[in-house]
Amino acid sequence: MHHFHYRGGVLHAENVDLREIAARVGTPVYVYSHATIERHLKVFRDAFASRSVGLFYAVKANGNLAVLKIVAQSGTGADVVSQGEIRKAMAADIAPEKIIYSGVGKTDEDLNFAIDAGLYQVNVETEGELMRLATLAEQKKKQVAVALRVNPAIGAGGHAKITTGTEDNKFGISTADAMRLYKDAQHYPFLKTVGLAVHIGSQIHDLAPLRETFVFLRKMAEDLRAQGLPLERLDLGGGLGVFYDREEEAKAGENRVQAYAAMVLDVMHGFDAHLSFEPGRLIMANAGLLLTKVITHNPRAQKKFLIVDAAMNDLARPALYEARHEIWPVKEGAASVAYSVAGPVCESGDTFGDNFMLPEQDRGDLVCLMSAGAYGSVMSSTYNQRQLAAEVLVSGDQWAVVRPRQSYDDLIRADSLPPWLKA
Ligand code: LLP
Repeated sequence: MHHFHYRGGVLHAENVDLREIAARVGTPVYVYSHATIERHLKVFRDAFASRSVGLFYAVKANGNLAVLKIVAQSGTGADVVSQGEIRKAMAADIAPEKIIYSGVGKTDEDLNFAIDAGLYQVNVETEGELMRLATLAEQKKKQVAVALRVNPAIGAGGHAKITTGTEDNKFGISTADAMRLYKDAQHYPFLKTVGLAVHIGSQIHDLAPLRETFVFLRKMAEDLRAQGLPLERLDLGGGLGVFYDREEEAKAGENRVQAYAAMVLDVMHGFDAHLSFEPGRLIMANAGLLLTKVITHNPRAQKKFLIVDAAMNDLARPALYEARHEIWPVKEGAASVAYSVAGPVCESGDTFGDNFMLPEQDRGDLVCLMSAGAYGSVMSSTYNQRQLAAEVLVSGDQWAVVRPRQSYDDLIRADSLPPWLKA
């Protein structure tokens, strides 16, 4: 559920007319709904009301400072995968004791930063990382809470590029190695092994592979405890999918998060470990859209192309994962034309898809790429020397720019010339 609705035939974000944002900020612009973000956090939390669990929003989905501030104010923690994400989460007042640091390639500098910050937990993904962390923590004489990220050899996810849990994927430690390392880690006085972590992929709708993974993890945790090893926490990752298609969403019903929670609670019933979750997409995808303007038509023999001012550099998901984001017109009307909608970037890959049924669109009309709040702006680039898009947050009747559009001056100043080319 989200707070983007038609009112008087015009699409609004909460109570704000999207035409007003386009007129004042220009396009393309990402628009986020504060109420939707809060609602999604609450739905997740409520689904687990019967057990005290930890919620750590996956910053990678959308790391805008204003979004992180909403996360902080709701009492939610952060799951991060880089030093930049740690810094940004802390800048939004998410306490270090509420940050889980995942990631398959952490440098010594990153690990030192994490040790100094005093994070809730570092999810270690390789044997080498474990050894380096032990040494660095010892040098600093500071204890670090460590979970081992296990690769359960169970894959799932909406696309091969976002599946992480198979033997083929670079993530995590294989079961046998993790069992051995968990035991070995007890020899290092500054490592505190707190538990195990998994994350098998993203955009997962089928609960079966998730259940299989959690059953597997519980069994592993019980084996470790049976060896007398300390284990207090299980980090169950993120990955629960969202519907990018309204019809599919309606078919699936409203209670998917509850069904997921019921499955987890069932698998973990009677197992007294603290559970944590790292949802990203579920919180942010439907809380944002990308507002864009029609530049021109290009009617070809097979397709009616509608060229809009957003492109693959703004929203990479269609080009990268063949994702289809619904397109809604800002002015409501009878859907009478099948458009192929594409951006201005000079690649055929820069298309948002075919057969979008829309009212006839004129040059200057506004349309929205829906469900673009997660993995949208964060994955954008300046390809074709295009400015990074602006971002706006709406709350009720209010709205504010939470990232100004990059200026052409900034774009040019981002590079520098070597001395021999300056004269
Ligand atoms: N935890 C870890 C360790 C992760 O690697 C991820 C996502 C998450 C949590 C959050 O997963 P979520 O709840 O959002 O599914 N750019 C891709 C998605 C990449 C996901 C990477 N890891 C896309 O646009 O589909």
